[in-house]
Amino acid sequence: MKDSNYARIEKQIDSFPSLPTTVTEVMNVVNNPESSAKDLTQAVLPDQSMCVAILKIANSALFGRPKKVSSLESAITVLGFDEIQNIVLSKSVLNSFGSVFQGNDQIINEFWDHSFTCALAARVIAEHFSISFPGRFFIGGLIHDIGKLAMLMTFSKEYTTEKWLSGFSQAEKLEEEKETFGINHAEVGGRLLKKWDFPDTLVNGLHYHHDPGNSPGSHGFPIIIQLADALSYITCTYDKDDIQSLETMILDLIPGIAETWNNHQLPWETLRLEMWHNWVSIEREHGSSILSILAY
Ligand SMILES: [Fe+2]
Ligand SMILES: [Fe+2]
Repeated sequence: MKDSNYARIEKQIDSFPSLPTTVTEVMNVVNNPESSAKDLTQAVLPDQSMCVAILKIANSALFGRPKKVSSLESAITVLGFDEIQNIVLSKSVLNSFGSVFQGNDQIINEFWDHSFTCALAARVIAEHFSISFPGRFFIGGLIHDIGKLAMLMTFSKEYTTEKWLSGFSQAEKLEEEKETFGINHAEVGGRLLKKWDFPDTLVNGLHYHHDPGNSPGSHGFPIIIQLADALSYITCTYDKDDIQSLETMILDLIPGIAETWNNHQLPWETLRLEMWHNWVSIEREHGSSILSILAY
């Protein structure tokens, strides 16, 4: 059973369509230090729905610009290359899950609320530590659990939504997932990003978001996604007034996280956790508008 399930998910990953050519072209432009805003405009321009999304995001409340942006080139100047790359990657990944994403199922809405909140949390933590390209943490958070959607597409009966899609994946649940399907959702997510030629930081960030200590590359990325995941779960599940000790809740979900942080030169402090949690709770309200821009 386990082996045949593994074969089914492998087949699903292999049969996922490639991402649109806009993605490759945008990545080439962004990663070439000689590129100008004009080059990036040329790369995005043929993709009309992407242009519309970029303009909407440049003008959205989350970016709070005093002046409206009306051309793609000025949107690129306002948002910057890194942010444009993030929008293009996020939108392309979300669109490739079209049918699953657009279901009005309550549990799918909750899944994306969790993912978006994780994206906000990952970015605010990265910004706090002045890590370069914090936008990459946003996309890492947004897509950290996409492996679950690929599992749902493959095992529409067995990967029952209540059991696997929601909640927080603690160690026992991950083991059970692997035992049942031959692979866990984090590994599936990493495999998908690898197939799509995403940068290694993101591939490893997804693959190791529940096991950051074993990541082969930089540990900082999966370590931050792991905490953002827990912060998102708590923010989306509990009322702020019902939380007595945020730190205790996080340590219950991820025993040993404080040691992992300290071992990787990231100071673990209760006050910071509360600050990030407060900020994420407020920003989450803008979530639905950005998500709908990225999804359609
Ligand atoms: Fe996960
Ligand atoms: Fe998650």
